[in-house]
Amino acid sequence: MPQSPAPQASRAPGAAPATSAGRSEWWRDAAIYQIYVRSFADSDGDGDGDLRGVRRRLPELAELGVDAVWLTPFYVSPLADGGYDVADYRDVDPRFGTLEDFDAMVETAHGLGLRVIIDVVPNHTSSAHRWFDAAVAAGPGSPERARYIFRPGKGADGELPPNNWRSIFGGPAWTRLKRPDGTPEEWYLHLFAPEQPDLDWTHPEVHAEFEDVLRFWLDRGVDGFRIDVAHGMVKDPALPDIDDGAKPDLLDGSTRLPYFDQDGVHEIYRKWRQIADSYPGERALVAEAWVEDSERVARYIRPDELHQAFNFEYLGAGWDPAEVARVVDATLAANGKVGAPTTWVLSNHDVTRHRTRFGGPEGGLKRARAAALLTLGLPGSAYLYQGEELGLPEVTDLPEEALQDPTWERSGRTERGRDGCRVPLPWEGGEAPYGFGPQGSRPWLPVPSEWAGLSRQAQREDPGSVLALYTEALRLRREVVAASPGEDGLEWETAPRGVLRFRRGERFACAVNMSAAPVELDGVGEVLLSGGGVEGRDGALVLPPDTGVWFVPGA
Ligand code: NOJ
Repeated sequence: MPQSPAPQASRAPGAAPATSAGRSEWWRDAAIYQIYVRSFADSDGDGDGDLRGVRRRLPELAELGVDAVWLTPFYVSPLADGGYDVADYRDVDPRFGTLEDFDAMVETAHGLGLRVIIDVVPNHTSSAHRWFDAAVAAGPGSPERARYIFRPGKGADGELPPNNWRSIFGGPAWTRLKRPDGTPEEWYLHLFAPEQPDLDWTHPEVHAEFEDVLRFWLDRGVDGFRIDVAHGMVKDPALPDIDDGAKPDLLDGSTRLPYFDQDGVHEIYRKWRQIADSYPGERALVAEAWVEDSERVARYIRPDELHQAFNFEYLGAGWDPAEVARVVDATLAANGKVGAPTTWVLSNHDVTRHRTRFGGPEGGLKRARAAALLTLGLPGSAYLYQGEELGLPEVTDLPEEALQDPTWERSGRTERGRDGCRVPLPWEGGEAPYGFGPQGSRPWLPVPSEWAGLSRQAQREDPGSVLALYTEALRLRREVVAASPGEDGLEWETAPRGVLRFRRGERFACAVNMSAAPVELDGVGEVLLSGGGVEGRDGALVLPPDTGVWFVPGA
C-alpha cells in the first residue's frame, strides 16, 4: 500500500522552531481547508464531486497557501446524511472513486506539501452497515443487537419510545423495527436520521472496530482525523428522559443532555491519541464537539487526548465586537490551561455561510473580508470552508425538489437545512457548471448563474478579489504571523468603540472596524494588508466601516 511521506513542516525561516523532541507540531498554527467532497470538483460528470476531482484541483489549494486539507466522508454510503451515514468505513463510495484514487490523492497532496485529514464517524453507522443488517436479522437479545442501542418500547404493547429524546434533525430519536410480517418489535436509537443508528460504545467490539479503522487510514498515510460528533458516543446508561423544554439541538449548549459530553468519551480519546502517536509524522486529531463552553471543550484537548477542537463559540459570536473579544479571550484562556492551540472557524458544511450570516452592506462581502483578516491573524490554527476564499454567499433559494438534507423532510418541510452552504464550487468559465464538472454535466445541486463571476478563474485575474485577499493573507500568515508570539502573545490595544485591535509582538497587529462609521487609528507603522479602502497618513490610518487591516505597529 503506498504511503507517501507527510510533508515537512512548511514554516518560513524565522518561524517557530521545531520542539526539542524534533516535532514541528504543525497543527498548532496550520491553515486547514475543508473540502466537502461531493461539492468540490466532479471529474467524471456524474454530478457528484469525487476524489479524482480533489486530486486535480489540489495545486490550486497549494497556490492558495493552506497547509492541510480536511475531506468530509467519501466512504461507502447511501448518502442519507451526505455521507455521515457510513456503510463501510474501509472503502470509498463508487460515486467518489476508489481506494486507488484515494492513495493517489494523498500522494499528490503530500507532494505539494499539503497534509490530509479525513473524517471518522464513530457515533453511528449507516443502517446499511453490515452490523446493522445483522442486528435486525438476529432479533432481540442477540449479541448482534448489543452493538447498537435497541430497547423495548414503553406502554402496554411497547408502542411508545423508550424515552423522550428527539433527533437533531427533528422527530423522535427512536424508530421501531417491524418484522417482515409487519409485527412491531424493538426500538433503536438514532440521535440523527433513522438511517444513522447509534452505536453502543459500552461494547468492546465497537472500540476494537474503530481502533482498527483508524489504523487502516493511518497506514494509508493520512495525517489526522476530524472526529464527527466527538461529544456524542457515550450515553448515560440509564437513558433518562431529558427535561421538558430542553433543546436536543447539536448547537444548543445551555442544557446538560444525557447523550452529549459524558465523561466516558475522554477514555476513548486517550486510547486514540496513543494510536495516533504510535505513527511517525505527527498525526493530529480534531474534535467536532458542540458543547457548552470553552472550559468543557478544553477537556477534549488535554495533553493526552485530542490535538484540537473546533471553536464553535467563535463561529457563533456574530458581528459583535464585544462578543468576539470575549470569545477570543475565553477560548485562548481555556485552551492555554491545557496547553492546546485554539482553532478559529467561521463556516463549515453545517451552518449558513458567514458572508450571509454577517450580512450588512454589500451582502456581507465587506464583513466577510474583514472577518478573514481577523481569523487568520489570531494565534492558533484556522479552518477555512471551501468557497469562503471566493466570498460565496449562502444559496437561500434552492428549489424545494433539489433539497437533500434530512432536516427538510424530518422538520415537516419547515426547515430547509444545510444544502444552501453545500452548493458546488464555481471554478471557471461562463457556462454552468462553471468548471465543477465537465460541460453539460448536472451538479447534484444547481449552481447559481451569478457564481460565474465568483469563479476561481475570474478572481485570479482580479487583484481586488476575495481570493487575492486570502492568498496574500495566507502568505503573510506564514511569514509574519507565524513568527509572532503564539497563543499567549495576543495583546488587546485601546481602540475606538466598535473596533477590535490587537498586536502580537513587534511585527504584527490587526484591527477590524465593526462599527458603522470610519475610525482613525494611530500608532500604525507599515500597512501589511487591508480589506480595502484604508487610507494612511503620518503613522495613522482611517479604517472604513466593516474593514480589517494588518500592520506593523508604529511608534
Ligand atoms: C456533524 C456533521 O458535520 C454533520 O454534517 C452530520 O449531519 C452530523 N454530524 C451527523 O453525523
